[in-house]
Amino acid sequence: MTKPPKIEKFDLQPGRIIGGTYEVESFLGGGYEGEVYKVTEFRTGVPRTAKLYYPHRNENDSDAMNFARKLEMLRDCSIVIQYHHVETLRIKRHAVTCLISEYVDGIILSKYIASHPGKRMPPYKALSLIYALVVGLEEIHWKNEYHGDIHSENILIRPQGIFFDVKLVDFYNLGRSNKERRKEDIKDTITLLHEAVGGNKWYAKAPQEIKDICRGLRRDLILERFPTVRHLREHLETF
Ligand SMILES: Nc1ncnc2c1ncn2[C@@H]1O[C@H](COP(=O)(O)OP(=O)(O)O)[C@@H](O)[C@H]1O
Ligand SMILES: [Mg+2]
Repeated sequence: MTKPPKIEKFDLQPGRIIGGTYEVESFLGGGYEGEVYKVTEFRTGVPRTAKLYYPHRNENDSDAMNFARKLEMLRDCSIVIQYHHVETLRIKRHAVTCLISEYVDGIILSKYIASHPGKRMPPYKALSLIYALVVGLEEIHWKNEYHGDIHSENILIRPQGIFFDVKLVDFYNLGRSNKERRKEDIKDTITLLHEAVGGNKWYAKAPQEIKDICRGLRRDLILERFPTVRHLREHLETF
C-alpha cells in the first residue's frame, strides 16, 4: 500500500465548491487532524460544517470513520452535533475525507469566558453552564460512551436567558469506553468550571460552592466525591 500523501494545509478559499454540493463560506478552525469550514449547501442555502482530514493523520480513514460512527450512535444526545454524511473530495489531486455535520451558530466557550469582565464568569453563571454540560454528558455516559477531549475550544454555546444551550463539537478517540475514560470526562468538566471562574488566579477567592466541586483540581479528591457524572449532576441540583 502507498503511504497517504502529506498535505500540510488545505487552505480552502471562500467561494470554492467542494463535493459538487457545498460552497465554502469561512474557515472555522484547524488542528492536528485537519481543518474545519463553514459551508453552504448551495441548492438550499443550508449551512453545514465540513471537517477535512489530513490524509497522513487519518490512516485507513480510521479517525474520520470513528468520529462519524460515534456521532451517529449519539445522535439522540442533545449536546452532540448532528452527523450528516462523509464524502471524498479531490484536493491538490489527492483523495481527502470530508465529514459533513450540523453547523452550530454559537460562541466558542473560551471566547465566551474571555468576553466577561476580568475574563471570568460569575460563579452562578459558570455553575449554570456546567450544569447544562453535565446533563448532556450524562446522556453520553449513559450510552456507555465518553468524549475524551472536553475543553473550552470543543464546546459551542448559545446563551438563552439564564440557561445555556451547549454543543460538543469534537470527540477524541482513545479506544473503547471504560470507567477510567468516563472519569477523565468528569475531571475535564470540573477543570472547565475552574477555568470559567478565572482559573488559578481567582481560585483562592472563589466561593465555597465552587471549591467543593473543584477540590483544588485534585483528581483523587474530585473522583472520590463524584465517581460518576450522575453524582455531579445531583450535587449541582442541590443548589
Ligand atoms: N458543528 C460546528 N458548528 C460550528 N463550529 C464548529 C463546528 N465544529 C467545529 N467548529 C469550530 O471549528 C473548530 C475546530 O473544530 P474541531 O472539530 O474541534 O476540530 P479540531 O480537530 O481542529 O480541534 C472548533 O473549535 C469550533 O470553533
Ligand atoms: Mg477541537
